[in-house]
Amino acid sequence: MGVIVWWRLILVLVSGILFSLLQPCASLPKGRNDYSFMKNATSAPKVSYYDYIVIGGGTAGCPLAATLSQNYSVLLLERGGSPYGNPNVTEAVAFGAALSDLRPTSPAQRFISEDGVINSRARVLGGGSCINAGFYSRASLHYVTEAGWEGKAVNDSYEWVEKVVAFQPVMGPWQSAVRDGLLQSGVVPYNGFTYNHINGTKVGGTIFDPNGHRHTAADLLRYANPSQITVLLHATVHKILLTNPSKGKSKATVAHGVIFRDSTGAKHKAYLKNGPKNEIIVSAGALGSPQLLMLSGIGPEAHLKAHNITVVLDQPFVGKGMSDNPMNAVFVPSPTRVDISLLSVVGITSFGAFIESASGENFAAGSPNDYGMFSPKIGQLSKVPPKQRTPEALAKATELMESLDGVAFQGGFIFEKIMGPVSTGYLKLRNRNPNENPSVTFNYFQDPRDLERCVQGISTIEKVIDSKAFAPFRYPNMPVKMLLNLTAKSPVNLLPHHTNTSTSLEQFCRDTVMTIWHYHGGCQVGKVVDRDYKVRGVNRLRVIDGSTFLSSPGTNPQATVMMLGRYMGVKMLRERLANE
Ligand SMILES: Cc1cc2nc3c(=O)[nH]c(=O)nc-3n(C[C@H](O)[C@H](O)[C@H](O)COP(=O)(O)OP(=O)(O)OC[C@H]3O[C@@H](n4cnc5c(N)ncnc54)[C@H](O)[C@@H]3O)c2cc1C
Ligand SMILES: *[C@@H]1O[C@H](CO)[C@@H](O)[C@H](O)[C@H]1NC(C)=O
Ligand SMILES: *[C@@H]1O[C@H](CO)[C@@H](O)[C@H](O)[C@H]1NC(C)=O
Ligand SMILES: *[C@@H]1O[C@H](CO)[C@@H](O)[C@H](O)[C@H]1NC(C)=O
Ligand SMILES: *[C@@H]1O[C@H](CO)[C@@H](O)[C@H](O)[C@H]1NC(C)=O
Ligand SMILES: *[C@@H]1O[C@H](CO)[C@@H](O)[C@H](O)[C@H]1NC(C)=O
Ligand SMILES: *[C@@H]1O[C@H](CO)[C@@H](O)[C@H](O)[C@H]1NC(C)=O
Ligand SMILES: *[C@@H]1O[C@H](CO)[C@@H](O)[C@H](O)[C@H]1NC(C)=O
Ligand SMILES: *[C@@H]1O[C@H](CO)[C@@H](O)[C@H](O)[C@H]1NC(C)=O
Repeated sequence: MGVIVWWRLILVLVSGILFSLLQPCASLPKGRNDYSFMKNATSAPKVSYYDYIVIGGGTAGCPLAATLSQNYSVLLLERGGSPYGNPNVTEAVAFGAALSDLRPTSPAQRFISEDGVINSRARVLGGGSCINAGFYSRASLHYVTEAGWEGKAVNDSYEWVEKVVAFQPVMGPWQSAVRDGLLQSGVVPYNGFTYNHINGTKVGGTIFDPNGHRHTAADLLRYANPSQITVLLHATVHKILLTNPSKGKSKATVAHGVIFRDSTGAKHKAYLKNGPKNEIIVSAGALGSPQLLMLSGIGPEAHLKAHNITVVLDQPFVGKGMSDNPMNAVFVPSPTRVDISLLSVVGITSFGAFIESASGENFAAGSPNDYGMFSPKIGQLSKVPPKQRTPEALAKATELMESLDGVAFQGGFIFEKIMGPVSTGYLKLRNRNPNENPSVTFNYFQDPRDLERCVQGISTIEKVIDSKAFAPFRYPNMPVKMLLNLTAKSPVNLLPHHTNTSTSLEQFCRDTVMTIWHYHGGCQVGKVVDRDYKVRGVNRLRVIDGSTFLSSPGTNPQATVMMLGRYMGVKMLRERLANE
């Protein structure tokens, strides 16, 4: 192949995937989502009272609040804005636009872990489901059993969610080739289209409908009782109000209210109404929930004291058990044009890695559409080890990407996420400002079992690329080993080479690690909360969201996060209504 084509192929390695075939559409998703109960927090009274206060209108918080409002008054407090009318949220073609928008008004807030991997968290009603890649897949039956959840209620809750947000994806040639390649590589049997988590290869669900519109956890508020729910946007909770038990007395700590600030900085207070069963539920996500507990005085004593926070309850496990499943990708340049696709097929291996794929090409260099799951614009940069992913490196890679023409983007990524992971880290406060990111360390691949799984996953990806089914999408004369070298060692970002990079798959895994944004933990079940998600040692306070997970559910977590919000809402109502 000619030198020019060769260089284009190398340059391709900083490419993004784009999803620009579909035209944005201004209409709201089906159903009535112009909720009259959704208000700007500036309009909230200084003081108000509710049966339930849910902190964080995210993937778990929305279904939870909607469910509780069926029988009780509920306040849902979300620091971000509305997802409706914002094409960066509602349109599949805009995937990555929010993730690359670093302004404080963006629905996504970038953070960088101490490991150096660039990551992102939601800041919008609907949470992560408004900015994610849309793949929808349930947890395994084993996961459900281990969590101690009741199987029938879990299934009912998944179905309640799926009626509103889940769709069968349209399968194009690339995803079909990946599916068949997985089967030819031994990731069997083929389980067809299913939301269920079963070993083998399957087509999963998506929250993007066939017209490319996103359906999010905020859409689940359609189930809410409009006369019982208040949703406040741009409402940042600064503190959960706790009674500090007087020394020597056995009185337990009780949560009774919250302090939040609106977009003008004005302070508001919301309290629980009298009634022993009223509760506050924290659903602020894997970063937000442990952060807010700490800011409220629940956390490791010495750490809180170092930040001059009055300790209400010394809880050493708050912020512990933080994990992020590493994602490693191989770019496959294609000799033919490639259709645009986002995760539809997944290979669920029996060794603990999940293999997925995204494809596309950039027709117009430098167009506003050159965003994708692997674009430096959204913070993905696997060409250099995590610690070298500086803003300068990102800017350089972005600049290079924008200077390329369309052919350089012809191809796609096959990537893996490892199950678990086993490695864990921790979260710490940087300051007392809830708008700012806490510091978080994930310790990717610290446990050798994680590295082992990654290596097996990359080996399986090699087989997929080498499979007969995949032949139309690859250059026959480019061995997989060379692709790995390119992905790991490409000089395009003009940073120093790593002589040892990709000499082993272990090193490849470490050096090219990215995030698939499935980070979880910080308020783990059995450590910070009990199996009913009640904060240990505090009455009337629960945490219900991804921060409670011991490991990430299913191949991708959002289905189970939404399910959990509904499941716990139903459970809380049942228990309460039975008693009253
Ligand atoms: C880019 C990206 C791609 C992903 N792709 C997929 C995918 O394809 N499939 C999949 O299944 N999963 C995917 N995920 C993961 C999934 O979306 C998340 O695991 C899930 O959304 C987490 O839900 P949560 O309820 O725990 O937190 P969130 O949904 O983040 O909800 C927390 C909410 O709390 C709010 N909040 C935080 N602090 C405060 C405060 N102090 N006061 C008020 N509000 C506050 C936040 O603004 C946020 O809305 C992806 C995630 C990202 C970021
Ligand atoms: C909320 O309302 C206030 C007062 O009307 C306004 O200044 C502010 O811009 C609004 N915030 C948003 C994000 O809409
Ligand atoms: C709870 O709400 C549901 C739905 O609105 C209603 O059918 C049920 O009767 C209510 N239960 C009680 C005890 O109020
Ligand atoms: C959408 O994202 C783009 C790119 O980050 C940004 O320029 C634009 O302002 C965003 N639109 C909205 C409505 O936020
Ligand atoms: C829940 O659904 C799954 C998948 O369809 C099924 O295998 C399981 O038996 C169901 N569990 C219960 C308790 O109905
Ligand atoms: C805590 O308070 C002390 C005494 O007022 C002050 O010197 C110190 O800077 C404060 N630390 C933080 C992290 O705010
Ligand atoms: C399915 O895969 C998991 C790992 O993902 C493994 O632990 C389990 O043993 C496998 N089950 C079967 C029946 O192969
Ligand atoms: C990959 O890189 C290694 C280390 O630099 C080198 O030894 C090997 O020959 C390369 N393989 C290919 C196929 O380019
Ligand atoms: C390469 O790896 C070897 C063995 O792990 C190590 O001793 C050596 O320092 C590494 N070289 C570089 C340049 O990183």
